[in-house]
Amino acid sequence: TTARPSPGDEAMPSETDIQQALQKAHTQFKGTKEGKNADYIPYLATVDPNLFGLALVTVDGKIYTAGDAASPFPIESLSKPFTLARLMEEVGAKKVEDKIGVDATGQPFNSIVAIEMNEDHRAGNPLVNAGAITSVSLIPAKTPDERWKKISGNFNSFAGEPLSVNEEVYKSETATNTRNQSISALLESYKVLGSPREQALDLYTRQCSVNVTARQLATMGATLANGGINPVTGERVISPDTARRTLALMATNGLYENTGEWLYQAGVPAKSGVGGGIVAVVPGRYAIAAFSPPLDKAGNSVRAQRAITHVVNSLGDNLY
Ligand code: DON
Repeated sequence: TTARPSPGDEAMPSETDIQQALQKAHTQFKGTKEGKNADYIPYLATVDPNLFGLALVTVDGKIYTAGDAASPFPIESLSKPFTLARLMEEVGAKKVEDKIGVDATGQPFNSIVAIEMNEDHRAGNPLVNAGAITSVSLIPAKTPDERWKKISGNFNSFAGEPLSVNEEVYKSETATNTRNQSISALLESYKVLGSPREQALDLYTRQCSVNVTARQLATMGATLANGGINPVTGERVISPDTARRTLALMATNGLYENTGEWLYQAGVPAKSGVGGGIVAVVPGRYAIAAFSPPLDKAGNSVRAQRAITHVVNSLGDNLY
């Protein structure tokens, strides 16, 4: 690992270096056998555990891939930072801080204890389920349909392409999300939701069921790396201030109770989803996304963590 000079000091690694780092990580970790597909959402248990894709998108819009970078998978919790960013744009960072909270919970993503313990911020943090259900409920809209159009339109702007809901995942998750129902009911009892709990949970479940590929996810992350401008389409999606705050939340809570361990190893903000995706962002340079279904106990893809850590460190981009 080489130290990273001040931002802007160092040229991007060469195209060959990036492509080789991705390929090497893919070869090195494709045989990794640790981890297990999520099975509390029945659909996810049926996905091929050998799928493994990597994609890196730079702030000047160059795209690199290795392995199954074109395989769609459900975005799941990776939806959270992008809807949070939209919410901040619409209602301001202060409201997110006051209504949801911005400190790490240190607890699993679906913790109920965390809600009970945090009297000042019941929803806790926008990147755990309670905070994300709350984020969805606070997106200003007159109807659920209008709210969904904002949420899905925002994903499309980040990805630079229209994404669609995987209806099988949506049905599978809707049929089994009793824990999220409990979380929503608790949040409603504490009066933190901006819309009725059934609606908030339904739109949250829908946003978790959106399919992405590693390449699309890397483009979404690259928009955060690029201060809010999608580097592939040139669209300004969010302000630089929102991008900065979103990345700060990813750095402190993106991998739940394992976030400290993650930052210790990889040194860059990242977010995971139980579909097996992780996106990591090197501000001002690039985002890298990895996808492979088997997860560790905290719900983070094992191969994705290892591959991203390898690439970021071998390109000298650990921020610390
Ligand atoms: O609400 C849930 O439990 C899922 N839709 C998403 C959870 C998730 O992705 C946690 N991430 N690693």
